[in-house]
Amino acid sequence: MSMSDLRGNHYDEDDVIRSGDGKGAIFSSIVSERVSRRGLLKAGLIAGVGTGLMACEPAKATPKTPLSPTGLDFEPIAPSTAETLMVSAGYEAEVVLRWGDPMARGVPGFVAGSITPEAQAKSFGYNNDFVGYLPLPYGSDNSARGLLAVNHEYVNPELMFPIKNPSEQSKEQTDVVMNAVGFSVTEIELVEGKWRPIRASKFNKRWTAFSKMEISGPARGDSRMKTSEHPTGTTATGTFANCSAGKTPWGTVLSGEENFQDMYAYAETITDPAEKRSAERYGLSKKDSEYAWEKSYDRFDCRSKACDANHLGWVVEIDPFDPEWAPRKRTALGRCRHEAATTHVTRSGHVVMYTGDDSRFEYVYKFVSRDHYHAKDRKKNRDLMDHGTLFVAKFNADGSGEWLPLVHGVGPLTAKNGFRNQADVVIDVRIAADLVGATKMDRPEDIEVNPVNEKVYIVCTNNVDRGTAGKAEPDASNPRAENRHGHIIELMERANDHRATTFIWELFMVCGDPEDEATFFAGYDKTELSPISCPDNICFDALGNLWIATDGMEKSMKLRDGFFAVPTDGPERGKLKQFMASVPGSEVCGPEFTPDGKTAFLAIQHPGEGSLFTAPSTSFPDGSGVPRPSVIAIRAKNGGVIGSRG
Ligand code: FEO
Ligand code: CA
Ligand code: CA
Repeated sequence: MSMSDLRGNHYDEDDVIRSGDGKGAIFSSIVSERVSRRGLLKAGLIAGVGTGLMACEPAKATPKTPLSPTGLDFEPIAPSTAETLMVSAGYEAEVVLRWGDPMARGVPGFVAGSITPEAQAKSFGYNNDFVGYLPLPYGSDNSARGLLAVNHEYVNPELMFPIKNPSEQSKEQTDVVMNAVGFSVTEIELVEGKWRPIRASKFNKRWTAFSKMEISGPARGDSRMKTSEHPTGTTATGTFANCSAGKTPWGTVLSGEENFQDMYAYAETITDPAEKRSAERYGLSKKDSEYAWEKSYDRFDCRSKACDANHLGWVVEIDPFDPEWAPRKRTALGRCRHEAATTHVTRSGHVVMYTGDDSRFEYVYKFVSRDHYHAKDRKKNRDLMDHGTLFVAKFNADGSGEWLPLVHGVGPLTAKNGFRNQADVVIDVRIAADLVGATKMDRPEDIEVNPVNEKVYIVCTNNVDRGTAGKAEPDASNPRAENRHGHIIELMERANDHRATTFIWELFMVCGDPEDEATFFAGYDKTELSPISCPDNICFDALGNLWIATDGMEKSMKLRDGFFAVPTDGPERGKLKQFMASVPGSEVCGPEFTPDGKTAFLAIQHPGEGSLFTAPSTSFPDGSGVPRPSVIAIRAKNGGVIGSRG
């Protein structure tokens, strides 16, 4: 494909994966190393078929075929540019919770532009991302009553208030937005097919940028964790930038603190060599911060002794069943822009946690516990994450891979290289991973273990810098230059033992328009598939089908983000279908199924982003007024399992 072939369609030159030039050739040769020739031929990568980039074709009519053993019999929707939320035929979506919904009795109802800090602290937060459903009572598989645990990642002040950017924010508005981030737990119940929050529940709780937290693990009490507000280095104030998360088998949630660097200002003034090296590697704001919180609170000002930048970037454990338990920043898992953390119990009874650092050319990590999981005593599991070994992934070109230990004193992680102790290793885990030679990935987002085949799926959302001047070239596990559409890696631990220190891996999906030769859908015939770009959050249904939520399709394909399903095994492995499409300006997050598989919860994050409070591009979900990030529930009209022919 030449660039002239692409002119005349709706893609900017910048938007194009240059699959037919030299970089495309690199892509094909790299991918051919990693997948079977039969699969490549079917996918068109060797034959070079498919040069069009038509992204807005309506879905082809799906014949009424016999029910699939994958359970994915729903009618795919067409790629969407619609103003409204679209869902597969036979399904309906309803709003469960929206920004500003009161979570306690006596809290005033939401009024656009005038929510107070006090009301926000007891109301549903902004920019919902992770959604976890925890059945009530604890330990049951109740699919009609449970706790909805939700991350609130960041804020759009320009859509919350009649201002154009955060620098115009009043102190009161800053307090609102700091109360609108963090985490929430809301009890919900299903009544006559509709989910509704229980406002008076004793479980309802908000954790915000002001909440009291504990620091645990190797960095607890370290000199680098001591601030004027927290002189012992054992406590912290608040959690924010909470992107995705994961549920533990003992009923807690591990929330990933992701883009915290955007809240810290004036890093160029740091003189301490260790902190300066760290601030540069983590990208703290050199001058003013993006959110302007430093104007109201010294803790976000790197010139202040109150600066607590080392208290952010952790995986935070929160117990939705125990609202009074102070969340723990689990420092043994390292400090980075954590997307999430996924827990898996090994056959030996240990726990492993997989976590990705969502930045360009960052790493995939795994933590293996020292101690065993106690299935019958949830409190005994509370220290599991404080003792164990952290590893980082190295993907070899031959399809093998290694988990490299990040342990003080091992290899280059010594005082000579600036690591006094394990606290330094975890606080500066990016620098440690650089030194041990880990593989730089294309923005690793969600990582999940398939409950049926036990393989690990790693989502790399995109990396437009891959292969550009001065940046790392494509490699086996990140095969595409200027990777605008992302890919998904399938990893199998040695002997399917998740404690193993070696693994094998394959490319499962290289996303994009199926008609683009620089895409791959596990070898499935690409003529029937939905276009997909920027995969982000994933989950599995009970049959082991992978469900994918996207973040960025408006930019990369000029299509709405959505929710997709794809079998991971059997003859339909790779057969991707779109189930739902979102509204303007939003990404789709969550996703979560109830245990019976009959409800899918999705988070619609930042609807209307790119517009202003005074002229929003959408009024989702209410049809009038400002857009409000919301959690929705999708159910089949016939009450069936999600993915069936609704
Ligand atoms: Fe907040 Fe990695 O997406
Ligand atoms: Ca994400
Ligand atoms: Ca994302």
